[in-house]
Amino acid sequence: MTYNFDEVIDRTNSFAVKTDFKARNHIPEDALAMWVADMDFATPPAVTEAISKRLSHPIYGYTHLGDNKYEAAIAWMKERHNWNVQADWIVHAPGVVPALGCIARAFLNTNEKLIIQQPVYPPFMSVPTNNQFEYLNNELVRVNGTYEMDLEDFEQKASDPAAKLFILCNPHNPVGRVWSKETLLQIADICLRHDILIVSDEIHHDLVFKGNTHIPMASLSPEISQITITCTAPSKTFNMAGLQAANIIIENPDLRARFVKELNRVGMETPNVFAGIASEAAYREGAAWLEQAIDYIEGNKQYVIQFAKEKLPMLHVLDSEATYLLWIDFNQLGLQPKRLQHFLNNEALVWMNAGSMFGESGNGFARMNIACPRSVVIEAMDRIERAIRLSHVPVGDTI
Ligand SMILES: Cc1ncc(COP(=O)(O)O)c(C=O)c1O
Repeated sequence: MTYNFDEVIDRTNSFAVKTDFKARNHIPEDALAMWVADMDFATPPAVTEAISKRLSHPIYGYTHLGDNKYEAAIAWMKERHNWNVQADWIVHAPGVVPALGCIARAFLNTNEKLIIQQPVYPPFMSVPTNNQFEYLNNELVRVNGTYEMDLEDFEQKASDPAAKLFILCNPHNPVGRVWSKETLLQIADICLRHDILIVSDEIHHDLVFKGNTHIPMASLSPEISQITITCTAPSKTFNMAGLQAANIIIENPDLRARFVKELNRVGMETPNVFAGIASEAAYREGAAWLEQAIDYIEGNKQYVIQFAKEKLPMLHVLDSEATYLLWIDFNQLGLQPKRLQHFLNNEALVWMNAGSMFGESGNGFARMNIACPRSVVIEAMDRIERAIRLSHVPVGDTI
């Protein structure tokens, strides 16, 4: 079956954050919404069918996931990621972000810190700080147009006696890296030596472009698995974030018990009625849809890169290895972060996430969500080009 990713689906009046939050963010009504990380593609038909079937039963009471609840997820991890996961390692959570909150609260004591790697997904900073924990930033370094980890600095941060936990983003949002086995082993070795718990956020693990392979951190060795909590979900993969189903995978029974205790403490353990059946349908029947979605997104990425090369050489679009989020460097326009954001969102009329949200090193960048029909990507690039041309921004000057 061939899926139609060219179809433009109107999301207004569907309670979609992506389209509905324009007014509250002072974004003009006619701006293209290319920000928050969900797709503008219809979810795989198997998911819709499974939900419709359950929907036709008119009682939506308290629910459980069933005895074989994780069979499909386990088969998926084995087939796609070569990782042997056992059913009792998996804990349901309503999302990876709520899980990160519970992890911070369960594993950090007052005055203890965690390590993150900016530029990175904003809740890696906001969730711990909202819980009164500080973070240490092991800044990613830009090398030859891409980003690498600074392992020397990481070792230094990890040797701070207050550092207890590291949140890894793999594949990385927003820089699109799929971290190599060598890098993962090096970073895990530092964590093992300094007694640092690894929280590996692998929510983008299925959205990897050809020629790259995602390696689950916990699959690298039994020792690493013992100190790792892996956050996964079908939400990014199959465009079902609103169904709130995440699988937090923890082999170590002590770590798992502490995490579950915190989930229970905040009353977050019960799934919604569609979470289990939708996840199962996606993992069982969504592979063909996903293959085609990745190819389509890769086509979108190539379009943006080529367009920038030909018409907007002052931009640098990172050639990502994974995710449907493009990290674009607008620094050569010479605009201050707030001015750049206003220029893109309100003048070019392409609503993207401001790079500054991902840490200070994101100043001058924007994150573009390209999980949308090609026609939208084409329109967005035309709008950006037109706005730059009309703005008479003297490239390189600071405004
Ligand atoms: C790295 C990363 N983690 C977590 C999330 C969100 O997870 P959830 O919707 O399950 O809370 C996102 C969404 O963009 C993400 O990029």
